[in-house]
Amino acid sequence: MNGMETPRINEDKQAVLPVQGEDATVRAEKVRKTVIIVGGSSGIGYETALKLIGRNYNVVNISRTPCPLERVKNYAADITVGATLEKAIQTVAEKAANLYALVYCAGFSMAAPLEYAESKDYRYLFEVNYFGALRAIKTIVPFLKKKGGRIILVSSMASVFPIAFDCFYSSSKAALDMLAKGADLELAPFNIRVTSVQPGGTSTSFTFKRKVYGEEENREYSHRLHKATAALANMEQGGLNAGEVASCIANILAMKRPPYSLQCGKRNKLYSVAHRLLPENISLFLNKKAYNQ
Ligand SMILES: NC(=O)c1ccc[n+]([C@@H]2O[C@H](COP(=O)([O-])OP(=O)(O)OC[C@H]3O[C@@H](n4cnc5c(N)ncnc54)[C@H](OP(=O)(O)O)[C@@H]3O)[C@@H](O)[C@H]2O)c1
Repeated sequence: MNGMETPRINEDKQAVLPVQGEDATVRAEKVRKTVIIVGGSSGIGYETALKLIGRNYNVVNISRTPCPLERVKNYAADITVGATLEKAIQTVAEKAANLYALVYCAGFSMAAPLEYAESKDYRYLFEVNYFGALRAIKTIVPFLKKKGGRIILVSSMASVFPIAFDCFYSSSKAALDMLAKGADLELAPFNIRVTSVQPGGTSTSFTFKRKVYGEEENREYSHRLHKATAALANMEQGGLNAGEVASCIANILAMKRPPYSLQCGKRNKLYSVAHRLLPENISLFLNKKAYNQ
């Protein structure tokens, strides 16, 4: 050894060059890429934070409750309250030496009949699932434009396959997919690439946070809504584990040419291909059976 520090190679196979005259911790902070996760306190976002720390990224979480991982920096924000989301992203982006990516993972779902659903509920859902993502992108782009970067929007297979009594969720995720495609077109010249990740049912606490209308509010839809919601919950709790989805997200962040959209898991990839190949009425009939509708 000649006493000189040799560049390390991180998991993304990129050489990490040492900076003269700084202690090792500060140096490491500066060269590691920073990823902001919106919604990293639980489920898929939490597992993504864990995976990214293992791959030597700085991870910052923005949500209402903190991500409990020691190496994650937390900023509290409620997407639905004022401009707290924008302020948190801006603060992180101004401080980060090597800002690289935004992973928008926050999401919310509800089960209610279209006829009786209240506007405050579906507007809240759209704020969390869609407008929050749009606002996050608008805030981070001026910072990412300097060096390029990545944006991942966590969508759902529900963006392709409708869910009865939760068309609010399906349509918010379909809008998110289109936002990803449009944003990618606009931002690719700045080397900012945007991908929507479409997990199928994933076993997280998401299932139990769903706002489900009660019998009185559901009236004549009550029996069908109950059956469909139970089928959805079973599909989620028997589906992917959050770590599998997190691996897809971490892999996309390391790609030179990330895809426009990516389904997680072999079965979901197959459903997606089948949906593209089958006549729409057959695909939707099969979907109806799967969700017990
Ligand atoms: N689980 C599934 O079956 C499944 C399937 C397909 C797609 N997805 C999508 O995957 C993403 C992650 O879901 P998950 O399963 O990991 O659920 P989760 O464990 O409930 O995670 C949701 C995350 O969103 C954050 N969040 C929700 N509302 C927020 C608000 N108003 N302000 C700030 N943060 C908010 C939560 O943080 P706080 O509560 O701490 O604020 C949490 O970190 C969602 O976009 C979901 O639609 C899930």
